[in-house]
Amino acid sequence: MTATSAIDHLEELAEQFRRQVSEVTDRQGWEALRLQWVGRKQGRLRDLMGRMKDIPADARRTYGQAVNRLKVDVESGLQALEESLATASEAEAQSDVLDITLPGRRPQLGTLHPVTQVMREIESIFAELGYSVAEGPEIEDDYHNFEALNFPLDHPARETQDTFFFDNGMLLRTHTSPVQVRTMLERSAPPIRVICPGRVFRNDNDLRHSPMFHQVEGLAIGEGLSLGDLKGTLEAFIQRLFSADTGVRLRPSFFPFTEPSAEVDITCPFCSGNGCAVCSNTGWMEILGCGMVDPRVLSGCGIDPDRYSGYAFGLGIDRVAMIRYGIPNIRLLFDNDERLLRQIRV
Ligand code: PHE
Repeated sequence: MTATSAIDHLEELAEQFRRQVSEVTDRQGWEALRLQWVGRKQGRLRDLMGRMKDIPADARRTYGQAVNRLKVDVESGLQALEESLATASEAEAQSDVLDITLPGRRPQLGTLHPVTQVMREIESIFAELGYSVAEGPEIEDDYHNFEALNFPLDHPARETQDTFFFDNGMLLRTHTSPVQVRTMLERSAPPIRVICPGRVFRNDNDLRHSPMFHQVEGLAIGEGLSLGDLKGTLEAFIQRLFSADTGVRLRPSFFPFTEPSAEVDITCPFCSGNGCAVCSNTGWMEILGCGMVDPRVLSGCGIDPDRYSGYAFGLGIDRVAMIRYGIPNIRLLFDNDERLLRQIRV
């Protein structure tokens, strides 16, 4: 082969390479092309270099330069092709994110907080007994939280309430009883039948007490209401909330705003009253405070105590949730650990 025809042949090869490049559509085609041209063993360029010895000595330099040019072209052509294939496959991958054969993802449904669940249940039981829901502010004044409820200024009963005060004399309500006062002041005349659920606050913190907790207040005012009505209402409510065979007993107690006052125990739902660790072997659990509304409270709220009487009760909702779900520490209710919350569904 003459030097000229060998160089012409290189031109043809360059043209052939360009054609092949334009036909490659994937990585496999690229790899085949690379092996064909620059493969170590049978690559064409290696072959062309090997022919150097057949070229007349005076033309070797020109031939060598031409082969080198071809080599540079082939290498840069392969690199450019590799890059454009990579960009194309990335774009394709991105446009292909919707795989309709994948199984669907289950939506994660939240649950109502156990305290909310119990609260709603209590509301619906009392709704059936003819009670409506009343609400009041969490930031209260001394009058509604204490004075109107017959806690005189220096009365030791105030101390039992562990009150959080603000600098301006306002306070965080220590119970839902101020809503009794607000309801009586607002309603022009009995009959009144309300429950008042809500947050209350006391400076108290241990396994059974949290500085924020929940109560439901109940208030009924009418003509001729007696302690028997109170007991009957509470029994009906408690047996709906727990079970029909739950025992209920009233123990004499003291609250400034009720007379007489009582604390209500139920038979322990864990041992049905036989005695166990949860009820400290007594068979009973205290769940609420109640009493007949003190005539002084009635008249202070503009209701004639000679004509009307009434009863009130206050129940700890968190306590019911703890008893109901066997939660030993009240703080577990407010840590909001999903592992606990997810287990509790009514
Ligand atoms: N408010 C009282 C308390 O928090 C409970 C109570 C309510 C007692 C209504 C009697 C009547 O301790």
